[in-house]
Amino acid sequence: MPFNERLQVYHACIENALDHWLPEADVQPTHLHEAMRYSVLGEGKRIRPVLVYATGEAFGVELEHLDSPACAVELIHAYSLIHDDLPAMDNDDLRRGRPTCHKAFGEATAILAGDALQALAFHILAHSSTIHVSAKQRLQMIDILAQASGSRGMAGGQAIDLAAVGKRLNIAELENMHIHKTGALIRASVELGALSAPEVDPFSFEAVSHYAKCIGLAFQVQDDILDVESDTETLGKPQGSDVERNKPTYPELLGLEGAKKAARELHAQALESLDRFDKRADPLRWIADYIIQRQK
Ligand code: IPE
Ligand code: IPE
Ligand code: MG
Ligand code: MG
Ligand code: MG
Repeated sequence: MPFNERLQVYHACIENALDHWLPEADVQPTHLHEAMRYSVLGEGKRIRPVLVYATGEAFGVELEHLDSPACAVELIHAYSLIHDDLPAMDNDDLRRGRPTCHKAFGEATAILAGDALQALAFHILAHSSTIHVSAKQRLQMIDILAQASGSRGMAGGQAIDLAAVGKRLNIAELENMHIHKTGALIRASVELGALSAPEVDPFSFEAVSHYAKCIGLAFQVQDDILDVESDTETLGKPQGSDVERNKPTYPELLGLEGAKKAARELHAQALESLDRFDKRADPLRWIADYIIQRQK
C-alpha cells in the first residue's frame, strides 16, 4: 500500500481514538473540556501517533492495539504546545491555523487544559483494555512516557530553550536542547509502538530507538528551517517566531544550507538503523523522508 494511503489509515485511527478518550464538551467543567477538545482535535500532522502505528506494525502489532499509546503521546504533545504558546513561554497567538488555546479560552483555562491532557495520557496507558501486553511491560510504557515528558525529557528541554533565549549555544548545546524538547517525545512514540508487541527483541528495540533519536533531532532541525523559510499561512503558526524572540536555532548557527545538510545526515543515519528490518518497516522509512521534506 502506498504511504499516503497508509497515512490516511493511521489518521483515521488516531482521530477516532482521540475523540473516544477526550471528555465530551457538554460535560462539566464545560469550558475546560471545550479547551481540551479544541486543542487536540482537528488540524495537526499527528506525526507522533503515526510513528506509534508505523513502529507497531514493524513489530507485527495490530493497529487497534496501538490506539491507546498513540493517543497518549499525542495528548502529551498537545499539552506541550498549549503551554509552549503561553505568554510566559513563546507568547504565540496562532497554532494549527487558529488562535492558540490561551487566546481562545484564557490563560488559566489553557494551563489547566495542558495539565488535564497530561493526566489523561497516563490514565489511558494505565487503564486501556486494548493494550495487549503484560502488566510489567505496560508499566514500562508508562515509565517511558513519564521520563520523556518530564524534566529529563520534554519539560527539561523547554527549560533549556527558555534559558537559551538571546544566547549563542554551540552545536552540542543546541543538539542537547533539541534532543530533549522535541526528540524525547518522538523517541517515546517509537518505543511505545515497539513495546505494544508482547515479545520485543532487544536488538530490534535498540535499532528503532536509534532511528527515533535521529529523526527526532531532524524533526526539530526542519522545524527551525521552516521558521525561516516558510510562511505563516502554510505553517499555521507564526513564521519568524524564533528570530523575533532571539532563539538559538540550527539555521542561525550553521546557516540554512548547513542546517539542511545536518538534516540530511540525520536522515541517512536513521535509515541505516533500520537495516535489520524487512518491508514491514517501510512506513518508518517513508516517515524519515517526510520529516526532512515536509513543508509544514
Ligand atoms: C510542533 O510540533 C512543535 C515541535 C516540537 C517542533 P508539530 O510540528 O508536530 O506540530 P503539529 O502537531 O503538527 O501541530
Ligand atoms: C516546541 O518547540 C517544543 C515543544 C512544544 C515541546 P517550538 O517552540 O519550536 O515549537 P513551535 O515552533 O512553537 O511549534
Ligand atoms: Mg518553544
Ligand atoms: Mg513555540
Ligand atoms: Mg519552532
